[in-house]
Amino acid sequence: MSQIPVIAIDGPSASGKGAVAQLVAKTLGFHYLDSGALYRLVALKATQLHVDSTDHDQLAAIAAHLDIVFQNQEIYLDGKIATHEIRTEQCGILASQISAYPQVRKALTERQRKFFQPPGLVADGRDMGSIIFPNARLKVFLTASAEIRAQRRHKQLMEKGIDANIALLLQDLKARDERDSNRSIAPLKQGIDAKLLDTSSLTISEAQNTILSWYNEI
Ligand code: DC
Repeated sequence: MSQIPVIAIDGPSASGKGAVAQLVAKTLGFHYLDSGALYRLVALKATQLHVDSTDHDQLAAIAAHLDIVFQNQEIYLDGKIATHEIRTEQCGILASQISAYPQVRKALTERQRKFFQPPGLVADGRDMGSIIFPNARLKVFLTASAEIRAQRRHKQLMEKGIDANIALLLQDLKARDERDSNRSIAPLKQGIDAKLLDTSSLTISEAQNTILSWYNEI
């Protein structure tokens, strides 16, 4: 077991893992890695440069040379705030497509491991426990039913003043789950050493407390 503790929280899109992971990190005073943001930043940069979503080599080059800074609650790409721009559905769908390319994943691996710093790390994504931090002290597979996730995403978008259709959101989420779960490299799945946390009927703070109590039991 490594000296620096890692809590790996993997799960599907819109499961709420980001919000829960951030709260757990804050409570423990740990660093936080939002690995999905890295894939989304590659997608955003590719869109800005008009790089085709099938151009593996160019996408891997973008991933290897991303100029990004995570500071307080903001994410900067090439010195400009990209925090909100990377959260669009379009950016998420493109991120899911390009994350299936092994060269892109490889280019982002070391960048993710740089977050492994004392006093500890909470990392969320799809392959935190399986590939990036296999020695994580606690591995959680955080999920919720697709219908609940679509409702949560809908509420989030409406709060931001973005009009959205639940049926279409549900369709997109299912397509994304399918793609993220069936790709040949680092597919989204519950590892045998990961604890299952279904948050369908839990609040964010109940989910946070469950993870903290699991962590404190170790
Ligand atoms: O968690 P998210 O919705 O922000 O992630 C966006 C996409 O990035 C997701 O559909 C798949 C990909 N991703 C990945 O392949 N591996 C990760 N560790 C995190 C995200």
